[in-house]
Amino acid sequence: MDKKVLFNDEILANPYPTYARLHEEGPLHYLDVGGKWAVWSVFSHAECSSIAKDPRCSAKRSQQMLLSLPLSRQKEFSELARMLGLWLIFMDPPEHTRLRKLLNKGFSPAAIEALRPQVEAIVDRMLKPFEQGSEIDLMRDFANPMPVRIILEMLGIPQELNDKFVRCSRAIAIFRGNPNRTVEEARAAQNALVELTNFFRETVADRRRNKGTDLISLLIDIEEEGEALTEEELYAQCIALLFAGHETTRNLIGNGMYTLLRRPEEAAELRHTPEMIRSAVEELLRYESPVQFTARVLKEDMEICGQPIRKGWTVLCMLGAANRDPKQFKDPDRLDLKRLNNQHLAFGAGAHFCIGAQLARLEGQVAIAQLVQRFPAMKLAGAQPEWASTFGFRGLTNLSVAL
Ligand code: HEM
Repeated sequence: MDKKVLFNDEILANPYPTYARLHEEGPLHYLDVGGKWAVWSVFSHAECSSIAKDPRCSAKRSQQMLLSLPLSRQKEFSELARMLGLWLIFMDPPEHTRLRKLLNKGFSPAAIEALRPQVEAIVDRMLKPFEQGSEIDLMRDFANPMPVRIILEMLGIPQELNDKFVRCSRAIAIFRGNPNRTVEEARAAQNALVELTNFFRETVADRRRNKGTDLISLLIDIEEEGEALTEEELYAQCIALLFAGHETTRNLIGNGMYTLLRRPEEAAELRHTPEMIRSAVEELLRYESPVQFTARVLKEDMEICGQPIRKGWTVLCMLGAANRDPKQFKDPDRLDLKRLNNQHLAFGAGAHFCIGAQLARLEGQVAIAQLVQRFPAMKLAGAQPEWASTFGFRGLTNLSVAL
């Protein structure tokens, strides 16, 4: 079988010409993931969406994530696979349906809209000290810490723990974000999960004695009301929310600002037409998607895009490529902040559609609108921005700007 290369540093810097070429060649490709491994990967918007919704495709894939490790070492990481397997995103019905219904309570449109003043205040407080004309690293000084602050507030956790969470979350992202994972990456992710589980074990015990209106208290209420949610599942959801609430939204802000900074005319139009912010954020999500792929494991033999694929095999849904599919989007490589009918897959599709989509949109809209309004002369400066090596979670390690 002809294996195609996608996961290397050169393509990571700009995957879009490769996506365009692969779109021309067809909707399904067999991608090299290092060593002897390759994985079937769907590029078309229609197929990605249909796989994400297909009950024959399982989201339980934490065990499969170990496959790129040497066979003799996989056993060392059974705890990693088990702990990740407790996350909502890696569950199938009926467990997924039950837990999702319960968690939806914390992410209802009303609950998220109620956070707007808090999000505006946090963004305002963080941007106020920056002086016009000064140079900052927008990732380090704003985009990285901002979403963690919000999710920590939602969970009712002190802000001083910010650095610990960012460190642990990075280790998990590096493991999850590359299909060609190494033993060292697996070890770092496993240690991070153990550290976070121990933290939440203590925090949940404290919170039981002193409940509030935060997300952890909501999860404890759910558990105490007799719903089938085990202690371990409870800790796992706290970790998953912390991870997902930070690792993606910071990249919406970073990727979005990097895109706008390279197109001053579009940024100026957004500044003069603030009501464009909603469609602008949707377009930035499509154009530089923070999550570039997700995966499913086939529960039975299936035919995908005419190719028979065996039960138990993993299929990648290339969301970032689907968001540049010319069959779905007119002029897919053009940024159009006013794009109509923008049915992008940045938040996935089907039962696992991102539970935090409304929160991410709110954070992205407030942060990008304020940055564009407050610093009209902002431009790229200093060190060249670099893309982090996690292909799945697309984001910058640094973004130096002069304000
Ligand atoms: C721009 C920011 C974000 C992006 C691009 C994003 C993207 C995604 C995608 C693509 C999925 C579906 C994955 C799949 O089908 O396998 C997903 C699921 C999920 N996201 Fe997000 N996400 C973002 C922000 C957030 C935030 C802020 C939270 C929570 C605080 C969150 C929590 C989750 C959870 C818990 C799931 C699993 C849902 C389920 O399995 O039912 N995400 N996200």
